[in-house]
Amino acid sequence: MCGVVGYTGKRQAVDWLLDGLQTLEYRGYDSAGVQVVSPSGNLHGVKCAGRVAILRERAHTANLHGTCGIGHTRWATHGTPTDRNAHPHLDCTGRIAIVHNGIIENYQQLKRELMADGHEFRSDTDSEVVAHLVEEAWAGPARGDLAAAVRNACDRLEGSWALAVACADVPGELVVTRLGSPLVVASTDDGAYVASDVMPLSSVTSRVFQLDDRDIATLHADGSIDIVDRDGRLVSNPVAMEIDWDASAARLGGYSDFMAKEISEQPEAIERLLAGRLGKHGIELDELKLGKEELAALRHVVIIACGTSYHAGLTAKVAIERWAKIPVSVEYASEFIYDDDYLVPDHTLCVVITQSGETADTLAAARRMRGMGCDVFAITNVLGSTAAREADGTLYVQAGPEVAVASTKAYTAQMVASFLLALRLGFANGRLTRDEVEKHLHDLEQIPDLMREVLSRRWQDKQAARRFRHKGSSLFLGRNVSSATAFEGALKLKEISYLHAEAYPAGEMKHGPIALLEPGFPVVAVVPAGHVHDKTMSNIQECLARGASVIAVATDGDERVAKLCQEVLGVPNCPDDIIVPAVSVLHLQMLARYVARDRGYDVDKPRNLAKSVTVE
Ligand code: AGP
Ligand code: GLU
Repeated sequence: MCGVVGYTGKRQAVDWLLDGLQTLEYRGYDSAGVQVVSPSGNLHGVKCAGRVAILRERAHTANLHGTCGIGHTRWATHGTPTDRNAHPHLDCTGRIAIVHNGIIENYQQLKRELMADGHEFRSDTDSEVVAHLVEEAWAGPARGDLAAAVRNACDRLEGSWALAVACADVPGELVVTRLGSPLVVASTDDGAYVASDVMPLSSVTSRVFQLDDRDIATLHADGSIDIVDRDGRLVSNPVAMEIDWDASAARLGGYSDFMAKEISEQPEAIERLLAGRLGKHGIELDELKLGKEELAALRHVVIIACGTSYHAGLTAKVAIERWAKIPVSVEYASEFIYDDDYLVPDHTLCVVITQSGETADTLAAARRMRGMGCDVFAITNVLGSTAAREADGTLYVQAGPEVAVASTKAYTAQMVASFLLALRLGFANGRLTRDEVEKHLHDLEQIPDLMREVLSRRWQDKQAARRFRHKGSSLFLGRNVSSATAFEGALKLKEISYLHAEAYPAGEMKHGPIALLEPGFPVVAVVPAGHVHDKTMSNIQECLARGASVIAVATDGDERVAKLCQEVLGVPNCPDDIIVPAVSVLHLQMLARYVARDRGYDVDKPRNLAKSVTVE
């Protein structure tokens, strides 16, 4: 959650800080603030509840000058989103400013101790203790050494943090550090930059450095950066990362919102992912980093993820079990990490699926699996993310920056990435021949064009969205591979339209949710051709018998569906039922977007949510 930015160098800091915050706004957007060291050597800043656009106006009025500063866009964990709780937070002297992403778990005790020592607090946040701890260290043992003062303060913290600290007594210097929350730095001729992710940095450089947990970096106005690791050793060769997309990838480029842009980018994303995958040994998936024998010996796969990524995991399970004949369990990361009785059989591969690669629950689950001796394979979208760096092997889904909080293109790319994994496992253990792998890969290659066809039918979704007007709830149904699509469709609708949506495997409906049905109640039934089609049709009949209005996602030419259902969202014939979820879900993404827009909501930044959930 939340975005941290910082700059020191030759240019006016506030311009880039505001642009950077705007780019990071998808990470949290309930309040924002900036603080710069003014030419007179004082801290000068503004902060407010609400969006970066409001902050921009205030910063303009405040006429902030200075070439060194920090900024923050918040996703509140402690204290309501108000002006006073917005970051940056200052110490008692008003000469030290901090911004923080994460949670200080022992803040209550620290706050009590600091207050007993005479410190005055001006916010309800957990973060403010950091400003006062740095103040104590600066006034005492670490006088004159901001990095030492920050290290001293961090030694007393429990929880997770990405911190940027400015001090008016050392103008032109910023100190940044992290534990559990992401932070990247960049050194340029113009100065030195820090941000929560690479997106704001892509406008100034193509080369960034990722900080490791407990690294402390000092950014200097000449653009140089000193990094010291957790043991106090200078990091002389920090690992550099090249940003391989241009800055325009994170801009709207003529679309009205990022969600629309990202939905429409799905065909190209899948093409990128599939390019060059067929090799002479079957599928090319070097990212897996496991030898032939280790792969052949695998007996079990545990997939761990949250939210939309978890839904991709549900489809992955079907593919791996079908093609590689290896049993798969799919776990919610947040449940898994506290399931002390979880049994992991020998020869288990752990697969973590995470768009951001920074989801705290997923990272904790992956660490636990590694602790249990499992190899961890990450399927992620973000280059150099923590999940990628900690995993034994990483497959980047290459969907490009996903800015809208509601995940769309990363979801379908995750699914297709897991299909590649399933084929690789199946080939390695002899369940699939090379010809079969080739055939399946050929089927996967149809996905982009099938998606394009669905995208061209967005008018169907627009029309169906009207069925949700003045409704308070809805039901999403699907069976087998399509139950994950139903779950994902309901999540999309909930996230951005704030309309309650309940998803069920269609056969479970009669065991309870059927009681919700009444005339006009919207039911979305995912009922593509396949072996469970007729069973789902029976469930649709049960809904219709109770007056529900059924919106069916169905294969082209399905006359029964066309005759019975109020709306049909047509899906072209797919060569294999396993790829249908990667195609049919586009309708549900567009449907959710139209419903949300009908209701007048900001589809990119839904209330209460943040793109990257870096707290447990
Ligand atoms: C997706 O629309 C959601 N915003 C959310 O469920 C998301 O998928 C979840 O937080 C997991 O994120 P990750 O893929 O970055 O780990
Ligand atoms: N815990 C801090 C707060 O509530 C930081 C939250 C964030 O990461 O935005 O202010």
